[in-house]
Amino acid sequence: MTSIDATRLPGHVAIIMDGNGRWAQKKGLNRILGHRQGTETVRQIVTVSRELGIRWLTLYAFSEENWKRPAHEVQGLMKLLNHFLKSELGEMQENGIRFKAIGRTWRFPVATRDILLETMEKTSANRNMTLTLALSYGGRQEILDAVAEIAGRVERGEMAANQITEQTMSDALYTSDMPDPDLLIRTSGEYRISNFLLWQISYSEIYITPTLWPDFDKKEYLKAIRDYQQRDRRFGGVD
Ligand code: IPE
Ligand code: IPE
Ligand code: MG
Repeated sequence: MTSIDATRLPGHVAIIMDGNGRWAQKKGLNRILGHRQGTETVRQIVTVSRELGIRWLTLYAFSEENWKRPAHEVQGLMKLLNHFLKSELGEMQENGIRFKAIGRTWRFPVATRDILLETMEKTSANRNMTLTLALSYGGRQEILDAVAEIAGRVERGEMAANQITEQTMSDALYTSDMPDPDLLIRTSGEYRISNFLLWQISYSEIYITPTLWPDFDKKEYLKAIRDYQQRDRRFGGVD
């Protein structure tokens, strides 16, 4: 088993945390208990990322499409999120973790929005790692929001349409201050993107594991990173 090469770490790891429901179902439990176990995995993966020295970790926690789920499941997820943010603040401060949320978070209940804001403010000076939760997030919605903003600038005569570049677009996304993900992981074996970071993953290395999110542990995570380190990233060029 090859070990992790500390000089070739992915700068930004993005994860589609999938499979909480199936994990619970397999055990004959309520789906919410799967989500609760999933937050334990979040804790562990945040800790390992920080220990390894990964600078950006982005976790897909709730999609725009997840609002379609039964109200009690959505409420259960909000409760877990509130609890997670409150209980992890100390840990984030101790480990120099900056917290960020991306997505249409104004759709959340005011109590959740308040905790999100408070966590972002209190951790804003931390510099070791940025933990971003994608919440009420959709890649298409993000692109639409960016296009509307850029179109507004053109309409007001602040820029010409032919001045729009890839950089203009990147700067108008929720992720404007972040590098693109180097490694995109999806758990639970689904071979799809489910509307996550559509613009940003154009050259991300993709790793899909059948392991369900609540079972995704340090060993599995290191395996994904080792796999990434074997990849030859050509970006359309030749070696
Ligand atoms: C991922 O687990 C968490 C969220 C989408 C909030 P799921 O709830 O999608 O679990 P499965 O896919 O039903 O197993
Ligand atoms: C993607 O998982 C969203 C999150 C992990 C938050 P879903 O379970 O919602 O995706 P689909 O429905 O299987 O595509
Ligand atoms: Mg799912």
